Amino acid sequence: MTFWQFNSAAELRGDWFFPTETRFGGGRISELAGILDQHGIKRPLIVTDRGLKSTPIPECILSLAKASTTALLWAGADQNPTGQQVTEGVTAFHDHKADGVIALGGGSGLDCGKSVALLAGCGGDLWRFAYPRSLETQAERSSVPIIAIPTTAGTGAEVEASGIITDTSKPVKAGIVNLSMMPRVVIADPELTLSLPQNLTAWTGMDALSHNLEAVLVKQFHPMADAIGAVGVRMCHDWLPRAVNHGDDIVARSYMMAAAIMGATSFVKGLGAMHALSHAIGALVGTQHGLTNAVLMPYVLQFNRTAIETPVAALARYMELEPSFDAYLSAVLDLSERVGIPKRITDIGVARQDFERLAVMALPDFNAGCNPRALDVAGLVSILESAS
Ligand SMILES: [Fe+2]
Repeated sequence: MTFWQFNSAAELRGDWFFPTETRFGGGRISELAGILDQHGIKRPLIVTDRGLKSTPIPECILSLAKASTTALLWAGADQNPTGQQVTEGVTAFHDHKADGVIALGGGSGLDCGKSVALLAGCGGDLWRFAYPRSLETQAERSSVPIIAIPTTAGTGAEVEASGIITDTSKPVKAGIVNLSMMPRVVIADPELTLSLPQNLTAWTGMDALSHNLEAVLVKQFHPMADAIGAVGVRMCHDWLPRAVNHGDDIVARSYMMAAAIMGATSFVKGLGAMHALSHAIGALVGTQHGLTNAVLMPYVLQFNRTAIETPVAALARYMELEPSFDAYLSAVLDLSERVGIPKRITDIGVARQDFERLAVMALPDFNAGCNPRALDVAGLVSILESAS
C-alpha cells in the first residue's frame, strides 16, 4: 500500500478548483452555511431522493443550511429519477421562491437536483436538453446556483454537467446535458458515506471504477483525462475492498470518494458499452446502476479486447501487475468476487428474451458511440449472451 502516501483523515483533505470548486475532507459539511452565504443563496431547495430520506442525513443538511438561510427539503426523486419528478421538483422550487439548489445524495439525488436547477432557470420542456438535442440548446443557460453534496462514492455526478433522467414514455434513460448543470461548489465529505450499507458501497464503488476504466479506454486524444482515469482505476482496486469490508474506515472512504470524483472528471472523454447497456437495463428492468456496470464489466472488456489490449496492458503495468490484458482482467474478476458482485446479468433479473430489445435501446445511447470497438445490435446482444 506504499503507493498511497496519505493515510489519515487529517491528511486526506484539500481545496480543489478542478473541475469545479471542491471542499474535500472529513467534517467539511460544517462549511455549508458559509458557502451558501458566500454565494448569496438565501432560500435553497434541498433536492434528494426517497431512499436517503429514511436516513438522518437530509435533516442534518437541512439544519446546517438553516443556520444561514430559509431552506426547504424536497425528497421526491426515485432511484432512477424521472422527467415527471424533475417537473415536480421545479414546482417545489418555485413554490418555495427558491434561489438555489442543494443537490444531495447519490446519483439519483444529484442528477435530479441538477436537472431541477436547469429547468427552474430555463423553463419549458426538459427533453430539449436531452442528448443529442442538447447540442442545439447549449446556448441556453440556467443561472440557478447548485451546491452539490455527494453521499456515495460512485457516480461523481457532483463534478459534471449532466444528469441521467428516465423518460418513462419510451422508456429510456436520457442524458440531460448543459454546462450550467456544473455545481458551483462541491462539499465532498467522506464522513457522509460512513453509514452506507455494504452492498451500496460495493455497487457505487464499482460504478466509480467503471467510469475511470471506460474513460481511459475511449479512443480520443485527451491525456489529462487518461492520467486521472488511470490513477482512479488503481485507487478503486486498492481501496474498494477495504471500504466495503470496513465501512467505518475513513481513509478507505476518502480514497473512494476521490476516485469517484476522478471517474466523472475523466469521463468527459465518454464511456462505452458498459454504460450504454447499463442505461438500457436500468430503464427497462430498474436495476441499480453501479451493480449493472459491475456485472457487465468483464464481459465488455472481453468483447473490446482486440481494440484495448495495449492500454489495458499499460494499466496492468501501472498497477504493478504483469503487463497484459489477462492480468488486468483477472484483477477485475478478483475485485468483483471480493466485493460480492454477481457473475451473470440473469442473476440481477435481466431476462434472455429482452436481450434484443435491450441492444436496440442501448445502441443510440450517447456512450455507445464512444466504445473502443464499433457497436451494433448483434455485438451488444453477444455481450449480453456472454454475460448470461
Ligand atoms: Fe455510471
